[in-house]
Amino acid sequence: MEKHQCALFDLDGVVVNTAQYHYLAWKNIAHLVGYDLTFQDNEQLKGVSRPDSLRVILKMAQTSISQDEFDRFLIQKNEDYLVLVQALKTTDILPGISEGLVFLKDKGIKIGLGSASKNALLILEKLNLTSYFDVIIDGNQVKKGKPHPEVFLKGSTALNVKPKACVVFEDASAGIEAAKAAGMTAIALGEPNEFKGADFCFPHFNAIGISTLEKLF
Ligand code: BG6
Ligand code: MG
Repeated sequence: MEKHQCALFDLDGVVVNTAQYHYLAWKNIAHLVGYDLTFQDNEQLKGVSRPDSLRVILKMAQTSISQDEFDRFLIQKNEDYLVLVQALKTTDILPGISEGLVFLKDKGIKIGLGSASKNALLILEKLNLTSYFDVIIDGNQVKKGKPHPEVFLKGSTALNVKPKACVVFEDASAGIEAAKAAGMTAIALGEPNEFKGADFCFPHFNAIGISTLEKLF
């Protein structure tokens, strides 16, 4: 396996299980348009920006709303989400992530965050992880959301590493598509049948193991 020089992490669902809180907050909004958002539906929202997620929900509900209502729902979703993540603490970091970050740092591998979330910095701060990241690219800095590769390409450019020397860790199908469109090695975390085109798939980050990380970096 070729060695890589850079690791790019998605945040929600990879570093911390905030994916469940995004789901709960969207479920509330979906109820307001008369739709019962299922756990299965939620797969389509993972990695997708806030406005795009609402568009997907409206499509699922086969309904439309005014621009005013659209904007209000986005604000309400985020307010609900922020209440849910208020209690996040370092013990909520997903298994293997802290050890993985230390392993990469010790090896001199560059570490970046590539997240669609506009709350990424707030979450990293709550988890005390900000200092591990050499670059943080989040929803405030990208014009095109995943599956567009912009978020990961901005990360590799900022770190001065070629895309093919980067490994992306992702739990969303849109994120795997973005990583592959960027020309990077894509590691999917979740069920193999949820992902198209991933180079490797593991049930969660902790299942990767140090020996595989040694081969990748
Ligand atoms: C992604 C999540 O990381 O960020 C999505 O997987 C979420 O579920 C998106 O919609 C945008 O997040 P935020 O915090 O800006 O609403
Ligand atoms: Mg994610």
